[in-house]
Amino acid sequence: MDPALLRELAEIVEPAHVLTEPDAKSGYEVDWTGRFRGATPAVIRPGSTSEVAAVVELCRREGVAVVPQGGNTGMVGGGVPLAGELVVSLRRLDHVDPVDTAAQQVTAGAGATVESVQRAAASAGLRYAVDFGARGTATVGGSTATNAGGINLIRFGGTREQLVGIEAVLGTGETVRRLSGLIKDNTGYHLPSLLCGSEGTLGIVTAARFRLVGMAPHRVLAFVAMSSVDAAAAAVARWRTGIPSLEAAELVFHDGIALVANAFGLSLPFAAPSPVYVMLDAGALHDPTDELAEAVAGIDGVVDVAVAADTVRRSALWRLREDHALAINTVGVPHKFDVTLPQAQLGAFTERVRAVVASVEPEAYVWLFGHVGDGNLHVNVTGVAPDAHALDDAVYGLVVEMGGSISAEHGIGTAKARFLPLDRSATELTAMRSIKAALDPAGIMNPHALFAG
Ligand code: FAD
Ligand code: MLT
Ligand code: ZN
Repeated sequence: MDPALLRELAEIVEPAHVLTEPDAKSGYEVDWTGRFRGATPAVIRPGSTSEVAAVVELCRREGVAVVPQGGNTGMVGGGVPLAGELVVSLRRLDHVDPVDTAAQQVTAGAGATVESVQRAAASAGLRYAVDFGARGTATVGGSTATNAGGINLIRFGGTREQLVGIEAVLGTGETVRRLSGLIKDNTGYHLPSLLCGSEGTLGIVTAARFRLVGMAPHRVLAFVAMSSVDAAAAAVARWRTGIPSLEAAELVFHDGIALVANAFGLSLPFAAPSPVYVMLDAGALHDPTDELAEAVAGIDGVVDVAVAADTVRRSALWRLREDHALAINTVGVPHKFDVTLPQAQLGAFTERVRAVVASVEPEAYVWLFGHVGDGNLHVNVTGVAPDAHALDDAVYGLVVEMGGSISAEHGIGTAKARFLPLDRSATELTAMRSIKAALDPAGIMNPHALFAG
């Protein structure tokens, strides 16, 4: 990179926050799964919105591509410099403002972790509704940029549904700031919604304002052993509307929870294995145990139920689901497919995807789990090369053939860019590219994410 440009960047963020040494950069150049590995001339770590704006303006002027990065827990190769881009790390923008208890909202910097927002909300007797296993590392900026879903989506929606305001530096170098949090603010295009899910391709989120929800002091988990995926999918469709206190419905298989239990020394909920399990998590001001028990009783396909109301037991059982990604990483670098299927297709898909993977990669192993309440399955394949493109073609082709979406919650990144036309019409893609051209006219914002070529 041009030394003069590095000097100008160092004048903006101070030399200590321009990382050029290989060791200092390496953690920013490879993604959490180890599958996407790039290289950057420098990692820039601005400490304020104005510094972010100055960095973007300089890169726009010089035509230097940037990849914004938060916690680097993204799973679609969208947050690492695969084409030699400059990495702009937002981790230093980690403030969480005092909770606005009147509005029941909170504003936080892009570099604040999801967990720090959850903690701030809890300290005010409220809750930030988005929750997922990477809460301790994933950031406000990254979860906004990817419109992160997580385990509570069936009750509260994903990140976009919590977003009531945003501050961002657009690819033009200009800063938009709308953090008032007014519930009704019907004044033209809703930029927070547009930037949420834009994966760093339109601008850099520097702060976000979220709505908060009420606490649910009584939390109970029912770990339901079931006879088949079809039975589980049919049951979940009923439980979603039949259990008012339901906040999460997750699907796991025996091989996955056994892998987690072995990897981390945890115990399994049942002595005898069942093919598949549904985890129902209920939260309420009253004790929802009876509500859960009544809803599960008499449902076809239920083999056994373990109920956990105490925090320790409930957390131990939740680890069997939440630590899937960590445990699978111990087996090998996974090829992840985060997809949504129509509820009626879930059972058939779990059968067909195993066959499709075996036909393309006979040595591969398929791990299935996910947010069954919203039709989101995570298909993790180990034992394949990072660039197993034929595998991608086969799996995404099956998803689209079965009426599903090629991305449920992780976004498109670089991993799925070439498949976007399978899922979005030419008219939609033209509209999306027009928006990109308007907000990032120099084409410097994460240019290899979302769109192929
Ligand atoms: P990064 O990985 O740093 O970046 C992700 C994308 O956002 C990249 O394209 C990057 O360029 C862009 N970006 C980052 N910061 C900004 C910014 N300030 N402005 C503009 N663009 C930016 N995801 C889910 O949705 N649901 C889950 O249940 C879930 N579970 C997970 C469990 C584990 C164990 C792990 C490791 C990950 C999980 N994820 C899940 C994936 C990941 O945590 C989310 O995609 C998360 O939103 C990424 O946040 P991040 O700060 O790590 O972003
Ligand atoms: C999760 O829900 O655990 C992640 O989104 C899925 C994954 O790691 O593949
Ligand atoms: Zn997930």
